[in-house]
Amino acid sequence: MTYLVVDNCIKCKHMDCVTVCPVDCFYEGENMLVINPDECIDCGICEDECPANAIVTDTSLESNPDELEKWMDINTKYSELWPVITTINENRPSIEEREEWDGVPNKYENHFSKEPAKGK
Ligand code: SF4
Ligand code: F3S
Repeated sequence: MTYLVVDNCIKCKHMDCVTVCPVDCFYEGENMLVINPDECIDCGICEDECPANAIVTDTSLESNPDELEKWMDINTKYSELWPVITTINENRPSIEEREEWDGVPNKYENHFSKEPAKGK
């Protein structure tokens, strides 16, 4: 099992999750974070920290194999390309932006950036 970051992180990017991860396995893109599935120890602490409910277990996606494969691939791929993030930094959107983007559907298809975090 592993935890995965999914669609609603995009453009919300609250970053609360990184402050609690005991193994520092979050990686920062321009507008979302991902988890390295090989490094995550499945402690589950981060799940409740995310105000956007954007962290889920892989098992919670098993009923939708396409979604599971999609988010497993995204977290695996970009955690190898993007820099690690261990503290909240200046790339966090304003609270207004985070609230505005919360719950917007299909953010991956319409707004995802493949770029690593700015300034990293
Ligand atoms: Fe880190 Fe635990 Fe969350 Fe995995 S489940 S990303 S180890 S805080
Ligand atoms: Fe994203 Fe939630 Fe962390 S919005 S940056 S997974 S706290």
